[in-house]
Amino acid sequence: MDDKKILLIVEDDLGLQKQLKWSFADYQTVVAGNRTEAITALRRFTPDVVTLDLGLPPDAANASEGLATLKEILALAPSTKIIVVTGNDDRDHAINAVALGAYDFYQKPIDTDVLGLIVRRAFQLAELQKDYTKLQQLTAEPLDGIIASSKKMQDVIRMVEKVAPTTATTLLLGESGTGKEVFAKAIHGLSSRAEHPFVAVNCAAIPENLLESELFGYEKGAFTGASQQTKGKIEYAHKGTFMLDEIGDLPFPLQAKLLRFLQERVVERIGGRQAIPVDVRIICATHQNLQNLIEEGKFRSDLYYRISEITLNIPALRERGSDSLTIATALLKRYNEMNNRQVRGFTEEAAKAIQSYPWPGNIRELENKIKRAVIMTDGVYISFDDLELPAAENEEEAMPFNLKTVREIAETDAIRKALALSNNNVSNAAKLLGISRPTLYSFFDKYNIQVNE
Ligand SMILES: Nc1ncnc2c1ncn2[C@@H]1O[C@H](COP(=O)(O)OP(=O)(O)OP(=O)(O)O)[C@@H](O)[C@H]1O
Ligand SMILES: [Mg+2]
Repeated sequence: MDDKKILLIVEDDLGLQKQLKWSFADYQTVVAGNRTEAITALRRFTPDVVTLDLGLPPDAANASEGLATLKEILALAPSTKIIVVTGNDDRDHAINAVALGAYDFYQKPIDTDVLGLIVRRAFQLAELQKDYTKLQQLTAEPLDGIIASSKKMQDVIRMVEKVAPTTATTLLLGESGTGKEVFAKAIHGLSSRAEHPFVAVNCAAIPENLLESELFGYEKGAFTGASQQTKGKIEYAHKGTFMLDEIGDLPFPLQAKLLRFLQERVVERIGGRQAIPVDVRIICATHQNLQNLIEEGKFRSDLYYRISEITLNIPALRERGSDSLTIATALLKRYNEMNNRQVRGFTEEAAKAIQSYPWPGNIRELENKIKRAVIMTDGVYISFDDLELPAAENEEEAMPFNLKTVREIAETDAIRKALALSNNNVSNAAKLLGISRPTLYSFFDKYNIQVNE
């Protein structure tokens, strides 16, 4: 079998057909002279990339046969990269075509070197997009709400599956936005308590003087304003799971009371004398370093040992390899549906940036960026600019693959390609790159590129 990449050339001019076929000898080329032939070839060969002559002769019923062909191809195979080729005078059509979903456009007369470059990039992008579709299928959500493909996360998920059916008090550690709450819910959902309540209290969000009554409840008349008997959140979670979020912020006096609850499994409402037995599974979470808090005398070590029967460390997003892109792709789908948008994916540059950005705010930050980009983008693909990522501030802290490196690699790559295409002629290379000769020379200095003209 021929496993060359398939390029469909839609062109009615016989001379051009021949020229293109000849210059794209690296691919398996298929030629179509009109819309019907093009659609037949599309169905038969499913090419990743198509060059489409926008100036196909008008059909009786259809003034713009080229645009009609474009729409039909995209309707049938939306991920096809279509490069429209236009005459000199229909730039407007070309722009229209890109708005309709064409990958790029190119104006005649045909320079096969330049067109070749565009075609090659289109194939690369198609390849990348296939990779993430594959990844996405591979990683159908293993736990409700949790998307993960990296080895690290698979290990965490395996632990969750082991821990969930037990009653062990579990401590979830992880930076802000890594998914501690999602994991707590997943543990609850996989346990025999799933039918009973999941109740969470965030210690950092409730003022210290209210936290005790929030957790343990109070009897009527226990304090001014206690007009009726009120159950605490722990009691509400009876038979279910109780999550104590941001446990590092639990005030010291309450730590003792919580410890007593963990040992005796009974709550006493404020102002009450009755010990009420409560059957709950406890999950605690924090982004803080509890060992440090213990050393500073802010956290009781005996409580720490009680709550950490099992500890799960949830890795930061930047430690999860390709997960960032997998999650981004899933989020894109979600926000497309929510906002009735049809954004198809990410440009190559955007995809690289998602993988290399350190995501200090983890998945919550990624969610915000993708949500915004889906709503704001004018394109078919989310571009690097749409993501509005902050520039890397601190070089030392930056990842080996920071944005600057990505840019440098992209720039040196483009310069080398342009030089190769113009046989090391600096003026022509500068033209290909759309910059002036002196600017190109300054890049040679910057990247230490030697040119033998
Ligand atoms: N693996 C994942 N796949 C998809 N979405 C995720 C994943 N992990 C987290 N999220 C989403 O990211 C957001 C943040 O998660 P969550 O609130 O659980 O984080 P957290 O660790 O509790 O953060 P914080 O410390 O700020 O409270 C949520 O909207 C959650 O649905
Ligand atoms: Mg949280």
